[in-house]
Amino acid sequence: MRVYRVKDYDEMSKKAATILAAQIVSGPEKALGLATGSTPAGAYRYLCKWYQEGILDFSEIRTMNLDEYRGISREDSQSYYHFMKENLFGHVNIKEENTFIPDGEREDADAVCREYEALIQSTGGVGLQLLGLGRNGHIGFNEPSDSFIKECHCVSLALSTIEANKRFFENAEDVPRQAYTMGIGTIMSAEKILLLASGEEKADALSRMIGGPITPRVPASILQLHRDVTVIADEAALSKI
Ligand code: F6R
Repeated sequence: MRVYRVKDYDEMSKKAATILAAQIVSGPEKALGLATGSTPAGAYRYLCKWYQEGILDFSEIRTMNLDEYRGISREDSQSYYHFMKENLFGHVNIKEENTFIPDGEREDADAVCREYEALIQSTGGVGLQLLGLGRNGHIGFNEPSDSFIKECHCVSLALSTIEANKRFFENAEDVPRQAYTMGIGTIMSAEKILLLASGEEKADALSRMIGGPITPRVPASILQLHRDVTVIADEAALSKI
């Protein structure tokens, strides 16, 4: 695991964007695994800027998002589909048919997850997977639990995650209680992983991810076993290491 220490959110975002850009340029045949939330938004802004400056071309790129809330329509402004459109897809020349996100509108959780897992594996897997880090150590929506769940699955969000994500909603009651997510095995099968962390509220999870025991109670700790993980974290996120 390589850990880069940067000053702040902007430096983290710029460095992450250069790694993502290198992947876009050098390996468009492998899918790019993407995340949502406040952590990657800054890196996406750099990618949009570099596209507008003619530096990047997304026309051959395929993307697979980590997760989506269950029971939310694509048009809903809180859906991860909407987030991706607002923060990246709507600003670059990616083909809509090359962007994949679990379908949160479909209620049949088994079918959604089975099909999403099969899609990822049958199209050659993910080349570089971008990850944020939950305050409780989650990656994707793999919440702390008694065992690592390997494949895409439907998850009930932890209370702490609902609490953390309510900032994006008008009321805490509006935060969906369930989500579809890539599993730990799905994430671990990516060739390369890029995890970003910014802010003091991630410090505890980050120190447990890097230096603690590997346990499903801290899902991100499994990354200690991946052969190619890059972490970019700012000083605040690294303050407990
Ligand atoms: C989002 C995702 C989550 C977030 C995590 C951190 O697609 O999979 O694991 O990365 O909850 O969220 P932020 O970046 O909003 O702090």
